[in-house]
Amino acid sequence: MAETLLAALDIGSSKIGTLVGIKSEDEPMIRIIGFNSTVSRGVKRGLIIDIDQVTASIEESVEKAERMAGHKITKVFVGVGGPHIASLNSHGVVAVSNPQGEISGADIERVVEAARAISLSQTKQIIEVTPREFIVDGQTGIKNPVGMTGVRLEVDTHIITASQTNLKNIDRALSLLGLDNQGFIFSAVAAADAVLTDTEKELGVVLVDLGGGKTDICIYVDGALSYSSSIPIGARHITNDIAVGLRVSLDSAEKIKLYVSQNFEKKAKTFKKDEELNFVQLGLPEHVTDVSLKTLIDGIIAARIEEIFKLIFDEIEKSEFTSNIPSGLVITGGGAETVGLLQIEKKVLGLPVRIGIPEGVTGLIDEIVNPQNATLVGLLIRGQDLIIDEKGFKNFDKILKDFSGGFNLTKVKDFFKQFIP
Ligand SMILES: Nc1ncnc2c1ncn2[C@@H]1O[C@H](COP(=O)(O)OP(=O)(O)OP(=O)(O)O)[C@@H](O)[C@H]1O
Ligand SMILES: [Mg+2]
Repeated sequence: MAETLLAALDIGSSKIGTLVGIKSEDEPMIRIIGFNSTVSRGVKRGLIIDIDQVTASIEESVEKAERMAGHKITKVFVGVGGPHIASLNSHGVVAVSNPQGEISGADIERVVEAARAISLSQTKQIIEVTPREFIVDGQTGIKNPVGMTGVRLEVDTHIITASQTNLKNIDRALSLLGLDNQGFIFSAVAAADAVLTDTEKELGVVLVDLGGGKTDICIYVDGALSYSSSIPIGARHITNDIAVGLRVSLDSAEKIKLYVSQNFEKKAKTFKKDEELNFVQLGLPEHVTDVSLKTLIDGIIAARIEEIFKLIFDEIEKSEFTSNIPSGLVITGGGAETVGLLQIEKKVLGLPVRIGIPEGVTGLIDEIVNPQNATLVGLLIRGQDLIIDEKGFKNFDKILKDFSGGFNLTKVKDFFKQFIP
């Protein structure tokens, strides 16, 4: 029974998360054996601003997760996000190497390489190249052309780029800790793998990862990743607004936000919004009185959430997929549980909306079944298909049959090389 140890690291603006799981040939799902979430230091809006601080935070989180798992971690899949993320769709064309024969894995590698050849600023690095569809001799909509016969092979790909400096800074922190980087994955794409259903991806959906310092989004159309972007505002801005609005410290504002979100989000429709809220149990140093749900939601929180939704809508319009997303928005990340969020979405955008809770793993999952850990769970789910080992043939099948979820050719490339004479 072959087992592979997998580990993921989510370097967020609020928390550093580490997740350890085991992929076994006998089990369909990854079994979680270790988890930790530690306060993040040295990260702002997805960018490393202090390598020493972030290294110390990563070390703390990884060590705690290792202790829980009872295994040493040596390699990790790493989630990245923030406004340094950009995306574009690129087309590639090649002649099939053996026009009498079948299209091979090598042809796919060449055509995707052709699509990948874009002019890129020196400060940017490609982190994802995902085929959206293949076209064989003019026939569009092909998901897996291997085995088909044709002369001309084309591909439409979605390419995600990130700031090279930021990626280098992350790698520096990892190397200081003796950790190997198994691949960068855009956090919204990782989260999508943990929370979206195949039907949502097929119909068209926007995944929103509302984190502490930024909001990452990606759009799936016809089952394929089609747009990725990030907005420099996150749930921490809501905390700031509460601190200013109620004249309390940021710590107190965060406690109030979490308390109200955890206790009133489900009751927001039925609870008397004018009733004064009692914060005594929070033990705040400030004396906060005369605050109702109405003051908090309508007076403070709504304005910021409306702003976030308007910026999300701008991104949807920029993507030109406005009429291709009948499944609406799936919101995940810590901010997804903010009190009043769903009602405000209905008012501002009016698209179908739900909160995305990570699924698709087993084992020690009590602590991780929470929108805040969607990226982390997705990193493991997505990462398992990127692992190249002697079981290559199994992965090869999986990758090409199942690529509507997308695959990362940077990693798969080496694997295909085995098939090139
Ligand atoms: N139950 C909750 N209700 C409301 N807000 C919450 C809840 N839990 C967490 N948050 C908020 O979510 C934010 C953190 O989310 P998350 O952990 O997804 O961020 P992150 O991944 O560290 O940051 P980023 O993705 O922006 O780099 C904080 O602002 C926190 O206040
Ligand atoms: Mg995050």
